[in-house]
Amino acid sequence: MSQATADIGLIGLAVMGQNLILNMNDHGFVVCAFNRTVSKVDHFLENEAKGTKIIGAHSVEEFCSKLKRPRKIMLLVKAGPAVDEFIKTLLPHLEKGDIIIDGGNSHFPDTNRRCKELADQGILFVGSGVSGGEEGARYGPSLMPGGNPAAWEHIKPIFQSVAAKAPDGQPCCDWVGEGGAGHYVKMVHNGIEYGDMQLIAEVYQIMKEALDLTEDQMADIFEQWNKEELNSFLIEITRDVLRYKDTDGKPLVDKILDKAGQKGTGKWTGIDSLDRGIPVTLIAEAVYARCLSSFKEERTRASKILKGPTNAKYQGDKQQFVQQLGSALYASKLVSYAQGFMLMRQAADDFGWNLNYAGIALMWRGGCIIRSVFLGQIKDAYNNNPKLENLLFDPFFTDAAAKAQDAWRAVIGTAAQLGIPTPSLSTALSFYDGLRHERLPANLIQAQRDYFGAHTYERLDNPGKYVHTNWTGTGGNVSASTYQA
Ligand code: 2AM
Repeated sequence: MSQATADIGLIGLAVMGQNLILNMNDHGFVVCAFNRTVSKVDHFLENEAKGTKIIGAHSVEEFCSKLKRPRKIMLLVKAGPAVDEFIKTLLPHLEKGDIIIDGGNSHFPDTNRRCKELADQGILFVGSGVSGGEEGARYGPSLMPGGNPAAWEHIKPIFQSVAAKAPDGQPCCDWVGEGGAGHYVKMVHNGIEYGDMQLIAEVYQIMKEALDLTEDQMADIFEQWNKEELNSFLIEITRDVLRYKDTDGKPLVDKILDKAGQKGTGKWTGIDSLDRGIPVTLIAEAVYARCLSSFKEERTRASKILKGPTNAKYQGDKQQFVQQLGSALYASKLVSYAQGFMLMRQAADDFGWNLNYAGIALMWRGGCIIRSVFLGQIKDAYNNNPKLENLLFDPFFTDAAAKAQDAWRAVIGTAAQLGIPTPSLSTALSFYDGLRHERLPANLIQAQRDYFGAHTYERLDNPGKYVHTNWTGTGGNVSASTYQA
């Protein structure tokens, strides 16, 4: 049998898997590669991996025999049944204490389940979020591992060396929590990414329609923003996208069909937020905005039928308005992250995870798509107060929102008057205003519910006691305590 010389084995030689193997090799680890279609192993060894210390295997048995104990096996295969199938094939060749890491985009309930099932068989399972795309995998991804805590000490040296480094040199990888916590945090990361992208897209539409700016002018603004508080990967690539010219010298972005695709992680975040009763409105609106964009043909018809304002141009000082747009973007982004952290807090409560919020912000600080200077400030906020109830309560962010609010309101008011849609910018402001209202109109909703369904309500002067009123004088006095419609 072959000698056990590899520090880690990686299964799945698509682009993410190949790049992660090369990255691990760069950091001095011996990696053994395997793939369902075995011919890809030789192809990889003879091409991308030529001249490295990377080794390969042609069967699962050979693969497992080449790994040092406890075996560390990372799967980078298609999420879903492929993961379960590989686990099943691996199991007969593993021993107690061996570690399987799923680095794909698995849905966290699957990771919860696999973690439990494998623990029963003595195998330590880890579900790890991997973000940063191809480039990240090759030169430093953000890694979000969670699962069986006993695995962490064994994989920590590899994971923290290959991960991206924050500007202060800290690795963008730490233990997230038990069960599906790593994949959960990755899911929220992706949801936040949907939100950030939608916010930028709304600002772009306002710049284009209301201000009549050219793509180059917009690129200049994004370039400037990237030097300020909005400094982030997505602002940077937006600048580059806006500057990019097609073969005829015209901006390419203008020629792209306006139907946004999606792979489902934003939707998962939205659905999960509804399940948990947490108002993650900005991400949900971002998902819905992509859905609406896909109705291109219906929108084309609607554009000829449905009336909007006659004037769709901004009449005021454009330069000042651009500044206001930056503030609106920043404040809305702040709300989105506050909502995302609210969701993670609830999930942690529901699953008994001990999430380290400053650590999560640090993991997102570099390597991943939502990396930004802003995440450094979020990390500081949770370091200053690990029990922070809401991100918006951190003094730095409370102040930032207060400073931005006039501009934020002006932008949304103007967009509404000009007939330009701002689903995410607007919902962020509504959430902000909702949160800071001690009294919301839910008293009226309670009265309505009690009126038509005898659902009962609590009185301000006697909380905790549910009472029913016979609103019409004709209904009964019996309350509907047996159902919650
Ligand atoms: P393949 O090269 O044999 O297609 C990304 O698609 C990665 O997931 C590839 O390495 C691919 O292997 C693997 N993959 C996809 N579906 C799979 C399945 N059902 N079982 C095992 N591996 C799978």
